[in-house]
Order: sequence, then structure tokens, then C-alpha cells
Amino acid sequence: MNEAIEKTLKAGEILKKVVEEAKEKIKPGIKILEVAEFIERRTEELGAKPAFPCNLSINSDAAHFTPKANDNRVFKEGDLVKLDYGVHLDGYIADMAISVDLGDHSDLIKAAREAVEAAVEIVKAGTSTSKLGEVIESTIKSYGYRPIVNLTGHGLQPYSVHSPPSIPNYASQKGFELEEGMIIAIEPFATNGVGRVVERKECEIYSLTSIRSIRMKQAKELMDEISKKYRSLPFARRWIKVSEIIFSKLIKEGVLRSYPVLYEVSNGKVSQWEHTVIVEKDGALLVTR
Ligand code: CO
Repeated sequence: MNEAIEKTLKAGEILKKVVEEAKEKIKPGIKILEVAEFIERRTEELGAKPAFPCNLSINSDAAHFTPKANDNRVFKEGDLVKLDYGVHLDGYIADMAISVDLGDHSDLIKAAREAVEAAVEIVKAGTSTSKLGEVIESTIKSYGYRPIVNLTGHGLQPYSVHSPPSIPNYASQKGFELEEGMIIAIEPFATNGVGRVVERKECEIYSLTSIRSIRMKQAKELMDEISKKYRSLPFARRWIKVSEIIFSKLIKEGVLRSYPVLYEVSNGKVSQWEHTVIVEKDGALLVTR
């Protein structure tokens, strides 16, 4: 077995364990930050590293919500929580998401979960990504819901979370043929809204896009530290212990990419389910199922 497959599978084992443990902690009244910190600490204890901050988007927030430092917000009765997280071993990433229901969203969750399972069923070398999108869309629609059309699954490459090919969550015109050995994450989102996300202002997740010369000494040091610790992987603002003046300097210099929270534009509830799989000649090797 080659190194990429071996380490991706091991990362998947660790990820599954962390998510299983974390799931039990998502309860009304519990601080979101407490769960996020638990997840990230357990990852390190088990010998892996976060590939990105754990996302705990709730209700109509679809993606990119992670708590900030000293965040007091708690999970509430009735919430639909998406736990989307990835870990890596030497850059080899496993990425998965589940939905945790603190209310009455079982069908909406089933729609996303069955959509990813139906897509995984047809993964093999030669399958077109548009075919995956078609299966995802029809499964979600069979429950009376809509897929989020502007969020996609993606390829995984060493130290790169969103690599080609992009995997649409609807039957798109243009597809890309999967190739043996590709590592992909399939992540349908289902909603009772119109099926599109837009950004809101809140942003806690960033990644380094480029290294450039910066005059302010502390900002330059911070850039170098981020580069060393995370390379181009996304990180949480709360992981970085510097003042806002220094951090925002990097944003102004265009050194950081921002990942603002994405919410469903009609305020529909959003569910999500995600698996990482390795494409094989005649099927798929499941990393996170
Ligand atoms: Co993903």
C-alpha cells in the first residue's frame, strides 16, 4: 500500500473516533467552544493534526462556523448542528461531516446522509462527477428537499483541502472523470430553503495564500509562524494568540484568505453528511465510513 493511502486511512480512523466522541457532547446548554476545543485536543492526543478548524455550523448556517476565543454561545434545544472536520497525518487528509439533531430534523438529515451513500455506491475509476451530482440531487429531492447548489465536494491532496475535482451536489452539465487513486470528499447539503448559500460577516477561519515582504515586524513573524505551522491549511483565529492589530495587518496585506460563515439565503435549515473515499478501479475504499 502506498504512503498516501496508508496515511489517509489512518487519518480517517482517528477522525472517525474523534467525531464519534464529540457527537455525544453536542447537547443543549453545552458551549460550542467546549466541543470545538475537545475535538482539536483529542486530535492531537491521537497523534494527528487538524486539517482545518472544526466547523460547527447550526441551523441555516451551512458551513465555516467555528467559535471564536472566549465564545459563550451554546447549543440550543431544536438546533440542527453540522459537525464538519478534517485531520491530517503528514499532510494526508481525511474529511468528514455528520449532522446532529437537537430538534426534529430526521428527514432532512436522512436526505443528506442517503445522498452521500448513494454517491459512494457509484464511485469507481471512470465515474463522472456530474453523475455523482445527479445521484445526490435526485436522492435529496426524493425527500422533498433541495441540495445546496453552490457548495461542492472536492479532491484532497497533501496539505490541500479543496483540490480538483469539484463534486457538484446537483446534476451539472460539465463533469470530470474520476481516476484510480484519487482521494475525494463527497459532501451533500440538503435544505428546506431555496438551496443557495451566501456569506455573512462573521469570520473565524483563514488560510495563508502567499508569502510577501511585510514591514511590520510582528506581522511578518506571525506570517512566518502560520506558514510553518499550517502551510496553506485553514486555521482558526482563536488558535493565533496575537492582537487584532497584528492579525488584521495580514488581512490588509492580502496574505490571508478569509472563510466567512455561509448561510442559506432564504434561512432554510441545512443538513450535511460527508465521507472521504479513495477511488479504485472497480469501486471505492472508504476512509470515513
Ligand atoms: Co469537505
